[in-house]
Amino acid sequence: MSAASQKDETAPAVTLRPATPADLDALVALEHAAFVGDRAERRAIRHAIRSPSMTVLVAVTDDAAGRDTLVGAATLERRRGSRNARLSSIAVSPVRSGLGLGSLILDGAEADARTHGCTHLRLEVRADNGAGIRLYERRGYNRFAVIPDYYEDGMEAWRYAKAL
Ligand SMILES: CC(C)(COP(=O)(O)OP(=O)(O)OC[C@H]1O[C@@H](n2cnc3c(N)ncnc32)[C@H](O)[C@@H]1OP(=O)(O)O)[C@@H](O)C(=O)NCCC(=O)NCCS
Repeated sequence: MSAASQKDETAPAVTLRPATPADLDALVALEHAAFVGDRAERRAIRHAIRSPSMTVLVAVTDDAAGRDTLVGAATLERRRGSRNARLSSIAVSPVRSGLGLGSLILDGAEADARTHGCTHLRLEVRADNGAGIRLYERRGYNRFAVIPDYYEDGMEAWRYAKAL
């Protein structure tokens, strides 16, 4: 997959690649660090990594010993016969947030959807998720629906789409 550096040139380079089962522990830890509620369970993440109709992308940095450190991830879902892919999750390690990593991962997610023949990417975001909404709107996503009472705590979802 693609490799790119972040805005901060002193930060280690970040590489995007598809997740493997070896990433499972780090993905579960990221889910807990990045989300307060509505977290994906371990078995759901394991299923996503293995599923031919899903892509889990991980953003990693290499340390001096060549070990990957997970700093972000995104999950995409596709359906047979549909050209709409769905971004079901995107998360950045809280210690790395606000550095452009979310944009980098979203680029990779869009590229992956295109590679699989999808023409549109859709997603839902909590109406109170300022960072998520800003990321999507700045990247050309258009809000086309509001879904009341969508999340565990009753918060509504804003549904966005972008033509790829
Ligand atoms: C949403 C998320 C992925 C963004 O990742 P990120 O690496 O911080 O994103 P970026 O650095 O690319 O920033 C995206 C934009 O949001 C802005 N932003 C970052 N944190 C913000 C905050 N707390 N409130 C409002 N805007 C914020 C950034 O300034 C940037 O806007 P800009 O490009 O105009 O400066 C990250 O905050 C995250 O993992 N949140 C928890 C999980 C989540 O909510 N995921 C999305 C819903 S599934």
